[in-house]
Amino acid sequence: KRPAGAPDKALARTVTKVGIVGAGLMASQLALLFVQRLQVPVVLTDIDDDRVAKGVGYVHAELDRLAAKGRISRDRLTRYRSLVSGSTSKAGFADADFVIEAVFEEMSVKKQVFAELEQVTGAECVFATNTSSLSITEMAADLQHPERVVGFHFFNPVAVMPLLEIIPGAQTDDATLATAFAVGKDLKKTCIRAADRPSFIVNRLLGRFMGEAARIVDEGTPIEVVDRAFAGLAPMPPFVLIGLVGPAIALHNGETLVRAFPDRFYASPTLQRLVAAKLPGFYDLSSGRPVL
Ligand code: CAA
Repeated sequence: KRPAGAPDKALARTVTKVGIVGAGLMASQLALLFVQRLQVPVVLTDIDDDRVAKGVGYVHAELDRLAAKGRISRDRLTRYRSLVSGSTSKAGFADADFVIEAVFEEMSVKKQVFAELEQVTGAECVFATNTSSLSITEMAADLQHPERVVGFHFFNPVAVMPLLEIIPGAQTDDATLATAFAVGKDLKKTCIRAADRPSFIVNRLLGRFMGEAARIVDEGTPIEVVDRAFAGLAPMPPFVLIGLVGPAIALHNGETLVRAFPDRFYASPTLQRLVAAKLPGFYDLSSGRPVL
């Protein structure tokens, strides 16, 4: 059955090579997923050799771990390992059919990435963005081929969260959208079509959840008490979840929502404080204790 809002799958283009821009937390998890599910060459790029090596190293280490647990065979391990490569240059994207960016959540950075990509890729290569809150229409606006841009938003941890939000911009064409749905299906994700509104669907909902939790802390309740109060009501209480996605991402999402819906969202000093503490996650997920 075709997911609601998905175009005719006959329009989907075949994907034989994938490019990933960025080699950070989301990007390297995406590389792992793409190589396992699509079984095509996957090229990771980032701005320096260290980041690239770290991203490729993560994928290799995760594949090794899956093989050690017997989840993938030795043959597959060798094949998948050889399908993943990394570079600081985007030249390897020349013959890619599908590129996804997962760089810093900043409109100007993402626009720059796509402008550079247009110089190296073919005109039909899909440009997907893993943005969690920014406008797809605006991101595509200055490109020669804005019809190839589509939102493709994953959730952390990518390997286990089933959902994928697919977001067409105002100019996204049916072939791009059909390709996005086909790839999402091959990745074995539950694909939903979301409107190009600030933070789409999930982060708008989560923004209320995290934002209200931060407001309770702003009013004087300690973080760990808020989290303990939520135990059992969701897989992760609000501040553990903020630790998982990263306080900077949570704050950025909050700011996007404040700008878009000022009557319903507000900028929390607690989130700003957590970001200023410059901790990757302020919660020790293994002990469950806050580390602030
Ligand atoms: N990478 C890969 N696999 C992972 C993993 C990770 N980081 N974390 C957990 N898993 C796997 C485990 O290996 C385990 O797999 P098996 O059952 O096959 O062995 C499975 O997930 C369950 O793990 P656990 O039993 O250790 O732990 P759990 O039952 O508490 O589940 C969880 C962990 C799935 C992460 C769960 O806590 C959960 O669903 N949390 C909510 C996460 C969430 O809401 N994510 C969305 C964040 S918003 C976002 O990402 C978007 C954005 O733009 C900000």
